[in-house]
Amino acid sequence: MLTIRLATPSDDDVLVSHYVALWRSYGTADHEFEPDARERTSHFLREGRARHHLKAFIATFDGKIVGSVCCEEPRSPYPIVLRKPVSRVGYVGSMFVEDDARGRGIGKRLLERAIGHLREIGCTQVVLHSSTAGRPLYEGFGFGRTGEMSLSLKPGS
Ligand SMILES: CC(C)(COP(=O)(O)OP(=O)(O)OC[C@H]1O[C@@H](n2cnc3c(N)ncnc32)[C@H](O)[C@@H]1OP(=O)(O)O)[C@@H](O)C(=O)NCCC(=O)NCCS
Repeated sequence: MLTIRLATPSDDDVLVSHYVALWRSYGTADHEFEPDARERTSHFLREGRARHHLKAFIATFDGKIVGSVCCEEPRSPYPIVLRKPVSRVGYVGSMFVEDDARGRGIGKRLLERAIGHLREIGCTQVVLHSSTAGRPLYEGFGFGRTGEMSLSLKPGS
Protein backbone atom coordinates (compact mmCIF):
# COMPACT_ATOMS: atom_id res chain seq x y z
CA MET A 1 0.00 0.00 0.00
CA LEU A 2 1.20 3.51 -0.85
CA THR A 3 1.37 6.02 2.00
CA ILE A 4 2.50 9.64 1.96
CA ARG A 5 3.52 11.08 5.31
CA LEU A 6 5.09 14.25 6.65
CA ALA A 7 8.84 13.84 7.10
CA THR A 8 10.38 14.60 10.50
CA PRO A 9 13.99 15.59 11.20
CA SER A 10 14.68 11.89 11.85
CA ASP A 11 14.08 11.35 8.11
CA ASP A 12 16.80 13.83 7.12
CA ASP A 13 19.29 11.10 6.21
CA VAL A 14 16.82 9.72 3.67
CA LEU A 15 16.03 13.18 2.32
CA VAL A 16 19.73 13.88 1.90
CA SER A 17 20.27 10.54 0.12
CA HIS A 18 17.37 11.28 -2.23
CA TYR A 19 18.78 14.72 -2.97
CA VAL A 20 22.16 13.27 -3.86
CA ALA A 21 20.48 10.52 -5.91
CA LEU A 22 18.52 13.21 -7.76
CA TRP A 23 21.78 14.85 -8.84
CA ARG A 24 23.20 11.47 -9.79
CA SER A 25 20.14 10.88 -11.97
CA TYR A 26 21.23 13.98 -13.94
CA GLY A 27 24.60 12.30 -14.57
CA THR A 28 26.58 14.11 -11.85
CA ALA A 29 29.86 12.31 -11.18
CA ASP A 30 31.39 11.75 -7.72
CA HIS A 31 34.15 14.33 -8.23
CA GLU A 32 31.61 17.03 -9.10
CA PHE A 33 30.03 16.99 -5.62
CA GLU A 34 31.35 19.17 -2.79
CA PRO A 35 33.03 16.92 -0.20
CA ASP A 36 30.46 18.02 2.41
CA ALA A 37 27.48 17.74 0.07
CA ARG A 38 25.47 15.71 2.59
CA GLU A 39 26.11 18.15 5.45
CA ARG A 40 25.20 21.11 3.23
CA THR A 41 21.92 19.44 2.39
CA SER A 42 21.16 18.67 6.06
CA HIS A 43 21.87 22.28 6.93
CA PHE A 44 19.55 23.46 4.15
CA LEU A 45 16.77 21.27 5.58
CA ARG A 46 17.29 22.51 9.15
CA GLU A 47 17.39 26.15 8.11
CA GLY A 48 14.37 25.68 5.86
CA ARG A 49 12.33 24.22 8.71
CA ALA A 50 13.37 27.02 11.06
CA ARG A 51 12.89 29.96 8.70
CA HIS A 52 11.14 29.08 5.45
CA HIS A 53 8.18 26.83 6.30
CA LEU A 54 10.04 23.92 4.73
CA LYS A 55 8.15 20.65 4.81
CA ALA A 56 9.12 17.37 3.26
CA PHE A 57 6.94 14.38 2.50
CA ILE A 58 7.96 10.76 2.33
CA ALA A 59 6.33 8.08 0.18
CA THR A 60 6.36 4.51 1.46
CA PHE A 61 5.18 1.46 -0.42
CA ASP A 62 4.39 -1.56 1.76
CA GLY A 63 6.46 0.06 4.51
CA LYS A 64 9.54 0.73 2.36
CA ILE A 65 10.58 4.32 1.61
CA VAL A 66 10.36 4.88 -2.14
CA GLY A 67 10.34 8.64 -2.65
CA SER A 68 10.27 12.14 -1.19
CA VAL A 69 9.71 15.78 -1.98
CA CYS A 70 10.56 19.08 -0.24
CA CYS A 71 8.80 22.40 -0.48
CA GLU A 72 9.20 25.79 1.17
CA GLU A 73 8.73 29.51 0.86
CA PRO A 74 12.03 29.97 -0.97
CA ARG A 75 15.07 31.98 -0.01
CA SER A 76 14.40 34.77 -2.47
CA PRO A 77 17.22 36.39 -4.46
CA TYR A 78 15.23 39.66 -4.40
CA PRO A 79 13.35 41.59 -1.70
CA ILE A 80 9.77 40.49 -1.07
CA VAL A 81 7.73 43.71 -1.25
CA LEU A 82 4.23 42.48 -2.09
CA ARG A 83 1.76 41.48 0.61
CA LYS A 84 1.05 37.80 1.03
CA PRO A 85 -2.47 37.70 -0.49
CA VAL A 86 -1.15 39.54 -3.57
CA SER A 87 1.84 37.36 -4.37
CA ARG A 88 3.81 34.74 -2.54
CA VAL A 89 5.84 32.13 -4.37
CA GLY A 90 6.31 28.61 -3.05
CA TYR A 91 9.04 26.31 -4.28
CA VAL A 92 8.99 22.56 -4.84
CA GLY A 93 12.38 20.88 -4.91
CA SER A 94 14.08 17.57 -4.51
CA MET A 95 11.30 15.47 -6.02
CA PHE A 96 12.64 11.94 -6.18
CA VAL A 97 11.11 8.48 -6.65
CA GLU A 98 13.27 5.34 -6.53
CA ASP A 99 13.94 3.87 -9.96
CA ASP A 100 11.95 0.65 -9.46
CA ALA A 101 8.94 2.53 -8.03
CA ARG A 102 8.48 5.00 -10.90
CA GLY A 103 5.43 5.18 -13.13
CA ARG A 104 2.95 4.16 -10.41
CA GLY A 105 1.64 7.60 -9.49
CA ILE A 106 3.95 8.16 -6.50
CA GLY A 107 5.38 11.40 -7.90
CA LYS A 108 1.83 12.66 -8.38
CA ARG A 109 0.85 11.91 -4.79
CA LEU A 110 3.99 13.59 -3.44
CA LEU A 111 3.41 16.66 -5.59
CA GLU A 112 -0.21 16.94 -4.40
CA ARG A 113 0.99 17.05 -0.79
CA ALA A 114 3.70 19.60 -1.53
CA ILE A 115 1.25 21.89 -3.34
CA GLY A 116 -1.24 21.43 -0.48
CA HIS A 117 1.35 22.63 2.03
CA LEU A 118 2.26 25.67 -0.08
CA ARG A 119 -1.42 26.54 -0.42
CA GLU A 120 -1.87 26.27 3.37
CA ILE A 121 0.95 28.73 4.07
CA GLY A 122 -0.58 31.27 1.70
CA CYS A 123 1.41 30.82 -1.48
CA THR A 124 -0.29 32.17 -4.59
CA GLN A 125 2.05 30.49 -7.06
CA VAL A 126 4.23 27.38 -7.16
CA VAL A 127 7.58 27.41 -8.92
CA LEU A 128 10.03 24.60 -9.63
CA HIS A 129 12.88 23.79 -11.94
CA SER A 130 11.99 20.67 -13.86
CA SER A 131 14.28 17.93 -14.98
CA THR A 132 13.52 16.28 -18.31
CA ALA A 133 12.16 13.27 -16.38
CA GLY A 134 9.85 15.48 -14.30
CA ARG A 135 8.28 17.39 -17.17
CA PRO A 136 5.33 15.03 -17.88
CA LEU A 137 4.47 14.95 -14.18
CA TYR A 138 4.44 18.74 -13.82
CA GLU A 139 2.69 19.43 -17.11
CA GLY A 140 -0.02 17.01 -15.98
CA PHE A 141 -0.65 19.31 -12.99
CA GLY A 142 -0.92 22.38 -15.23
CA PHE A 143 2.56 23.81 -14.67
CA GLY A 144 3.58 26.01 -17.60
CA ARG A 145 6.91 27.35 -18.79
CA THR A 146 7.88 30.79 -17.44
CA GLY A 147 10.15 33.60 -18.52
CA GLU A 148 13.26 32.43 -16.70
CA MET A 149 16.32 32.76 -18.93
CA SER A 150 19.84 31.51 -18.32
CA LEU A 151 23.29 32.15 -19.73
CA SER A 152 26.12 29.68 -19.33
CA LEU A 153 29.39 31.23 -18.14
CA LYS A 154 31.33 27.96 -18.32
CA PRO A 155 34.43 28.19 -20.52
CA GLY A 156 33.84 26.75 -23.97
CA SER A 157 30.05 26.76 -23.84
C1 LIG B 1 10.18 12.59 -12.10
C2 LIG B 1 9.76 11.51 -11.12
C3 LIG B 1 9.73 12.11 -9.71
C4 LIG B 1 8.36 11.01 -11.51
O1 LIG B 1 7.92 10.14 -10.48
P1 LIG B 1 6.88 8.94 -10.80
O2 LIG B 1 6.45 8.39 -9.49
O3 LIG B 1 7.47 8.03 -11.78
O4 LIG B 1 5.72 9.79 -11.49
P2 LIG B 1 4.20 9.32 -11.63
O5 LIG B 1 4.15 7.84 -11.73
O6 LIG B 1 3.41 9.97 -10.55
O7 LIG B 1 3.83 9.91 -13.03
C5 LIG B 1 3.23 11.17 -13.15
C6 LIG B 1 2.81 11.44 -14.55
O8 LIG B 1 3.95 11.66 -15.35
C7 LIG B 1 3.97 10.72 -16.43
N1 LIG B 1 5.31 10.17 -16.52
C8 LIG B 1 6.10 9.80 -15.50
N2 LIG B 1 7.28 9.35 -15.96
C9 LIG B 1 7.20 9.45 -17.33
C10 LIG B 1 8.09 9.14 -18.39
N3 LIG B 1 9.32 8.65 -18.17
N4 LIG B 1 7.68 9.37 -19.66
C11 LIG B 1 6.46 9.85 -19.91
N5 LIG B 1 5.57 10.17 -18.94
C12 LIG B 1 5.94 9.96 -17.68
C13 LIG B 1 3.03 9.62 -16.08
O9 LIG B 1 2.45 9.16 -17.25
C14 LIG B 1 2.05 10.26 -15.14
O10 LIG B 1 0.94 10.77 -15.79
P3 LIG B 1 -0.41 9.87 -15.93
O11 LIG B 1 -0.67 9.27 -14.57
O12 LIG B 1 -1.42 10.88 -16.33
O13 LIG B 1 -0.09 8.84 -16.93
C15 LIG B 1 10.74 10.30 -11.18
O14 LIG B 1 10.84 9.86 -12.51
C16 LIG B 1 12.14 10.61 -10.68
O15 LIG B 1 12.40 10.60 -9.48
N6 LIG B 1 13.07 10.89 -11.63
C17 LIG B 1 14.48 11.16 -11.30
C18 LIG B 1 14.64 12.45 -10.49
C19 LIG B 1 13.96 13.63 -11.13
O16 LIG B 1 14.18 13.94 -12.29
N7 LIG B 1 13.13 14.32 -10.32
C20 LIG B 1 12.43 15.50 -10.72
C21 LIG B 1 13.25 16.68 -10.40
S1 LIG B 1 12.52 18.19 -10.97
